[in-house]
Amino acid sequence: MEITLSVLKADIGSVGGHTLPSQRVLSRVQEVVREAVGKLLLDAYVFHIGDDIVLLLSHTHGPRHPEVHGLAWKAFQEGTRVAKEEGLYGAGQDLLKDAFTGNLHGLGPQVAEMRFTERPSEPFVVLAADKTEPGAFNLPLYLAFADPMYSSGLLLSPDLRPGFRFRIMDLAQTERDSYITLDAPERLYDIATLLRDPHRFAVESIWSRRYGEIAAVVSTTRLRNIAGRYVGKDDPVALIRTQKIFPATEELGPPFALAPFVAGDTRGSHHLPLMPVKANTPASTFFCVPMVSGLAFSLKEGRFSEPVDLFADPVWDAVRAKVVEKAQEMRRQGFYGPAMLPMEELEYTGIAERLKELAREFT
Ligand code: 13P
Ligand code: 13P
Ligand code: MG
Ligand code: MG
Ligand code: MG
Repeated sequence: MEITLSVLKADIGSVGGHTLPSQRVLSRVQEVVREAVGKLLLDAYVFHIGDDIVLLLSHTHGPRHPEVHGLAWKAFQEGTRVAKEEGLYGAGQDLLKDAFTGNLHGLGPQVAEMRFTERPSEPFVVLAADKTEPGAFNLPLYLAFADPMYSSGLLLSPDLRPGFRFRIMDLAQTERDSYITLDAPERLYDIATLLRDPHRFAVESIWSRRYGEIAAVVSTTRLRNIAGRYVGKDDPVALIRTQKIFPATEELGPPFALAPFVAGDTRGSHHLPLMPVKANTPASTFFCVPMVSGLAFSLKEGRFSEPVDLFADPVWDAVRAKVVEKAQEMRRQGFYGPAMLPMEELEYTGIAERLKELAREFT
């Protein structure tokens, strides 16, 4: 059976700052989406990460389908109406355009979709991040799909041995989408050359070289490219199939224990480690440390099992304790050097404007 999974995510308002959506907003979004199950959709699951609401939808209509995207748009609009009634902060923040034009690309929400023929057992993972950017997934995905130090399946399984194909997007191209396709392991150094710069390049999708099957998709929307100014961080989502011809779920997890420094956190303008957290965690009042959650599901004829939370077991409490130390260490130096983003990535214009004024005082 050919199934499409669509993950659509938006920040439509949050309680007491950029923290989490209210229960009423979440319920309204859930209601709208659930009404479509059994009609347009095969199944739906709604959760949040920080202040972003994530819709996971299964159906048979293919990616970029106007009715599926239209449903998500309606759910986010309805949720925004409740958020405005409640006076939530940044109500409708990620809905950057007034009118729906057939699909959600370019309107603000993050979108990751894949179509495939369902395997007899189809395990998959939804990653959802808050307070960071699409390139934040670059290193974990590189390690899970191309490095045998993390992914022992690359050595142990003949299905994985030919490696994976990486499709990487150049986020600096704003006129049209621009991609390069590189095969691991032959082009490993070229892949690393691009992925080392997560502000400029992001993994868009990954494919099994042996079977040509899609393995992973990442949302790559840069809000600044749509709005022309800072309107919140891009907060990416990803869909990843696991097991058998793909890395095992327990090979996808460990790269996140590395918690690499990524762009994001306070005012979207700093570097802090990407902390693995449980799904439905509010953003942290510790500088809005970037966070990622992972939910794994099994799929049968397009219906979801209950999820398992990938970052909930005791190992991840120990990881988080270390990540907090790493984050505190960086934030101790405040605005200085690598703690704050470089000029061209700085999301607020205050410093650039001030520098122009200060230039006049130089003699
Ligand atoms: P189980 O015997 O628990 O199914 O383990 C399979 C496995 O290889 C895990 O990596
Ligand atoms: P969000 O994109 O999650 O709303 O982040 C906004 C921000 O800048 C928090 O400091
Ligand atoms: Mg917000
Ligand atoms: Mg957010
Ligand atoms: Mg955001």
